[in-house]
Amino acid sequence: MTDELLMIPGPTNLAHRVAEAMSKPQLGHLDPRFLENFKETLNLTRYLFVNYTGIPFVISGSGTIGMEASVVSLIEPGDKVLCLDTGYFGKRFVDLATVHGAKVDVLNFETGKHADPSVIDEKLSKDNYKAITITHVETSNGLLNPIKDLVKIARKHDVYTIIDSVAAVGGCELNFDQLGADIVITCSQKVIAAPPGAALLAVSKRALDAFENRKTPIRSYYMNLARWRKFMEEPGIYLATPSIQILMALHEALLMIKEEGLENRWRRHKIIADAIRAGLGALNLSIVAEEGYRANTVTGFYTPEGKAFDICSMLRDRYKIHVAQGLGDLKGKILRIGHFGNITSKETIALLSTLEISLRSFNIDVKRGSAVKAAMPYLEELV
Ligand SMILES: Cc1ncc(COP(=O)(O)O)c(C=O)c1O
Repeated sequence: MTDELLMIPGPTNLAHRVAEAMSKPQLGHLDPRFLENFKETLNLTRYLFVNYTGIPFVISGSGTIGMEASVVSLIEPGDKVLCLDTGYFGKRFVDLATVHGAKVDVLNFETGKHADPSVIDEKLSKDNYKAITITHVETSNGLLNPIKDLVKIARKHDVYTIIDSVAAVGGCELNFDQLGADIVITCSQKVIAAPPGAALLAVSKRALDAFENRKTPIRSYYMNLARWRKFMEEPGIYLATPSIQILMALHEALLMIKEEGLENRWRRHKIIADAIRAGLGALNLSIVAEEGYRANTVTGFYTPEGKAFDICSMLRDRYKIHVAQGLGDLKGKILRIGHFGNITSKETIALLSTLEISLRSFNIDVKRGSAVKAAMPYLEELV
């Protein structure tokens, strides 16, 4: 690990072997060695999403490219789309669907409250929607939405599901084949712990058929999933030059996930998240997401009045530990911890203890040693 400890909700710390994968001699985009590596990456992407029924996509670009490619490929101008707004990234789908000409309805949920399946059931039964957009883990507040229930309801109404699982895949339980969703999106710099620059998607056969059977052409060249499908099925044609170094690093990071085992990785993320939540509780810091709907990858917590910026700066300047400020309306009110990727007990203890010191240095009355003490029963499970 480097001197700096990234505990922002992405990008996250890179393992040495992942960073080293980027420093190999440049290969051409049609070099058989790169293409072989990419084919393995696609297979590892199947493993990551548990996607053996649909098609894996890996496209150079950030997570937003994955979101936009999904929207522009599936939605035609004039289609009705229901967007679930459980925070900043839920709203991004509203913007994307609007930009691409959909008729968008939005269901807003209070900060930290999950998208209630019964509300969505009622809404979908009243209108004829083509698709629903869902944020699996809302990185802006740490909320985990109940995607199994939400997808079940969407399927009951025969509505396509587009799921932003950018901050969840690899750390929160997700089985694409069992879930029955149409498109699930993540990207390289979150739980996968590769550098930023690749969007990864699992796309159902049903969605692929919908791309082929549109009434109007897909209004994008680069973000056209029907076009990229050919490359994913047979890597070797030229469509656009991929970010070769990033993809080589992604390959290495995915190999590490396979070596750890997906279920072990979910378990590690749950234990670390439990430890962090217990530590925050001991420091009297309340968590933004409601109980029962808290992500195992990201935690947002309210800071004592007016102290968000100071605490964040102290952690960064004194300890080189990076946490993130709130986004949008939550700026200045909360801080967010990204506890995913390669985070272990060591980093968790470092964060909780320095957070406690920071609070005490601002004369906030917290008991010395309480955060780590509260976290220990969980962390011991990781031995
Ligand atoms: C839940 C979620 N969706 C989408 C994005 C957008 O990803 P990117 O910044 O890689 O475009 C992010 C980034 O933080 C995110 O957390």
